[in-house]
Amino acid sequence: MTHDFWNDRWATRNIGFHEGAPNEMLVAHADRLGLGPGDRVFVPLTGKTRDVSWWLSQGHRVVGAELNEGAVRELFAELDRDPEVTDSGPLQRFEAGGLVVFVGDVFDVTAERLGDVAAVYDRAALVALPPDLRDRYAAHVTSITDAAPQLVLCFEYEPSQADGPPFSIDEDEIERCYGDAYAFELLDVRDRALRGVPARETAWLLRS
Ligand SMILES: C[S@@+](CC[C@H](N)C(=O)[O-])C[C@H]1O[C@@H](n2cnc3c(N)ncnc32)[C@H](O)[C@@H]1O
Repeated sequence: MTHDFWNDRWATRNIGFHEGAPNEMLVAHADRLGLGPGDRVFVPLTGKTRDVSWWLSQGHRVVGAELNEGAVRELFAELDRDPEVTDSGPLQRFEAGGLVVFVGDVFDVTAERLGDVAAVYDRAALVALPPDLRDRYAAHVTSITDAAPQLVLCFEYEPSQADGPPFSIDEDEIERCYGDAYAFELLDVRDRALRGVPARETAWLLRS
């Protein structure tokens, strides 16, 4: 998916992926990441998800990376926070309180820019990317977080019945993307309809 594809989706408000409340699987399974107070959580491909607000409410710090500047401005506005904006190489860095979001391409987020993170929370990130980019993304996130544990929420459906994104990610694809760096466990499966197609939302715990 190109940057234009996502910027067009934000410009035309074609953002059906955005949930109005914290994700149910996140709330049910975040404790499996074993985080302590104040630990930083990386939320790649952040959008303006309400999950950020949930992580902050649990006493964690959050660092995100999102291509679309308008989405990030909306995220801070909806949290009633006025960010300080600075340049960080090719990225812009928005910060307020315990929240930092890099605006730009996630592939420009280096380990140094990101800083220490105790976990990765991926909701609608891996599934947003086509296979070639997905490989690169998985290797990149593993590298810049030093293989921090991940809670990864995916969709699974019969691929012939719908086009991505979201793409269907099954266990074989988790193994292909993360099997070298992580052991993984399926925590939860819930039935969902995806544009009229029967689908399952899955929650995976990845530990190195
Ligand atoms: C399917 S949405 C998911 C957003 C959020 N995680 C949620 O659950 O609502 C994918 C997001 O990734 C962003 N995105 C896509 N490619 C990106 C990239 N290369 N770097 C940073 N963000 C990207 C898009 O702008 C979009 O907001």
